[in-house]
Formats: sequence, structure tokens, C-alpha cells
Amino acid sequence: MPARAWNLKRLRTESSYWRSCILITATHLDLFGWIGKQEKSPRALTTHFGGSAAGWEIFLNALCSMGLMQKRGGKYANGAFAARCLSRGGATSLLPAFDAWNIWGGLASALTLGKRPAMQRPFVSDRRKAERLLHSLDVDARKIATYLIEKLPLSRSRTLLDVGGGLGTFSVAFCRHYPNLRATLVEHPHVLPLVRRAVADAGMAKKVQIVGADFSRDALPQGFDTVFVSNVLHAHGVAVNRSLLRKLQRCLNPHGQLIVRDVFMNRQRTAPEWSTLFSVLLLLHTPQGRCYALDEIHAWLRQAGFSRIRGPFRSSPLPFDPDSILIATKTARDNQSN
Ligand SMILES: C[S@@+](CC[C@H](N)C(=O)[O-])C[C@H]1O[C@@H](n2cnc3c(N)ncnc32)[C@H](O)[C@@H]1O
Repeated sequence: MPARAWNLKRLRTESSYWRSCILITATHLDLFGWIGKQEKSPRALTTHFGGSAAGWEIFLNALCSMGLMQKRGGKYANGAFAARCLSRGGATSLLPAFDAWNIWGGLASALTLGKRPAMQRPFVSDRRKAERLLHSLDVDARKIATYLIEKLPLSRSRTLLDVGGGLGTFSVAFCRHYPNLRATLVEHPHVLPLVRRAVADAGMAKKVQIVGADFSRDALPQGFDTVFVSNVLHAHGVAVNRSLLRKLQRCLNPHGQLIVRDVFMNRQRTAPEWSTLFSVLLLLHTPQGRCYALDEIHAWLRQAGFSRIRGPFRSSPLPFDPDSILIATKTARDNQSN
């Protein structure tokens, strides 16, 4: 392809968000789920969702051209991909993208005014959006947990502290796999009812104890063989993370292990690409969060009193899972120095 045509193609591709807007709007409305295995006319959509048949026809035609729907006569049916991946709850992981849509519109002013949100979005700011995000994380975590269990050295642990454990997906999976393991899950009081319901629905309320606490202010329970902190550090600033890791060191029994799961960046913080893009989202969603370089986290761990740090290891081979694992052991010497 000639250089000018290639440049133009790159410009168009990189700046195109129409397809994303159309897809996430359809999933927000649960269009694919509602259509299911049937064929629906634009008029049927008007009856169910409101609006005008003409507007729906324009929207549905675009979904057809994207390969997500098929048009037969004047009616529309889910295409094979939509039927497989976007109906019956399959689109859960796309809903937070819809919820963050308006926030992305504030990127220019966030940069030029240097203003960041006063509280974490959406976990502390909006319970409905927090629920959608937690369910989306749960969908991913269920897939990842299958691989992660095989990699983590949990067989000798009897007690596990899961800090910022979300809906308890990892705690539940670990305790199911290791029948002698008991987990204590710490979550922000704002989302506690959602967590209690999810753990009870999994039938694991006896094995996964839930504690409501803000780990940046409150004391944390102590006496654990393993502490697991997954996808938490990136939402906070340097001072909170350093203090959290010091607290977590004190939560561990002698020779206990801290497992950190997060997105680790290179030293220049320019790669991997996903982590750089995610950091921009965190600029809009959190008071001080961003993804951190592996070197930064290593330094905090050493300062917190961990002396053996292994990793990074991949959590899973899943393509959407660029996260990595670090395992830091609390030695007897660390114990004495704290
Ligand atoms: C991205 S989610 C990670 C959930 C789960 N650990 C996972 O890896 O899927 C981060 C979690 O940390 C919790 N969290 C954030 N700040 C917190 C705080 N200060 N105290 C307690 N929990 C907090 C949030 O409520 C949220 O559930």
C-alpha cells in the first residue's frame, strides 16, 4: 500500500470509535439478549424499547454491516458471533465501557485543568455502575482462576487474606480447590452487600469470611499464610500503595507469602500498550491511580520488608489477560524488623 494511503488508513483506524459506540450501546440495551433466537422487526423494537422504527432500522443495519446481525426480509436476527458471545449474559464485560463513555468526553479538560476525581469511580461513586464493573471482573476472573490455581503455591496455606477481593471470585475458586483453605475477603464497605450476595450465591459463605474495611484507613486482620492482592494497586497513588504493602506484610505469619497480581509496565512506562491506555482511564476514574512499573513495585515490596520476590509470572494464557504475578515471601528476618 502506498505510504499516503497507509497513513490515512492508520489515522482513520486509530480515531474511529463509531463501531465501539454502536456495539456497547446494543449491549447496554441487551439488544442481542432480547432478540435471542428470534427474528425481530424494527417495529417490534419500537414496542419493546421505544423510539422510532426508522431509527432502529438505521441502527440494526449498521449492526448487520459489522457482522453482528443478519437481515432477512424486513426482520433482524443475531449473527453467529452475537448469538455465541453477546446474548445470554455474554456481553457483561462490555457494560463498564458503556458506563465510562461520558467520562472519556472529559479527557481534554482533565488534562488541561489537571483535575482528577475526588473518589474512586465507580466503586465508591456509583453502586449500580460498581455492580456492573464487579460482574464484568468476575466474568474474567472465573476464566483466569482456572489457570491461576495451577500456578500459585497455595497447597500449604491454611489461611488467605484477599484484599480488594471484588465479588470473591478468586477466594471462592481457591477455597474450592483447596478444601482446607479458609479465606478472609476485605472489601470497601460501599460494595459489601454485593460481595456478601455473590459469595452466598456461590455457596461459600462458611469458607470465605467477608470484612468491610477501607484498607487505606482501617486496620486489617492479621495471622495469614497468604495475602492475595489482585488488580488493586493500579487504582491508588504511590503513598497509599506503599502504606498498604507495609500493612499487608504485618498481616502475614512468619514465612507467609504476598501474591500481587496487577499490570506491570516497563521502566519507561510506555509498554505494554494496554497498560498505557488503561492508565489514561485511571486518570479519569481515580484520584491518583495509574499502572506501575515492575521496578516501582519491587522497590515498595523491599521497603515494606519483603526480601524474596519471584516473578513476574503470567496469570493465564488468555489474550485479554496481560496481568502478571509477583510472589514475595516474608522471611523471619522481615518479621523481626517490623
Ligand atoms: C479492580 S477490583 C479487583 C477485584 C478482584 N480482586 C479481581 O482481581 O478481580 C478492585 C477492588 O478493590 C476494592 N477497593 C478499592 N479501594 C479499596 C479500599 N480503599 N478499601 C477496600 N477495598 C477497596 C474495590 O471495591 C474493588 O472491588
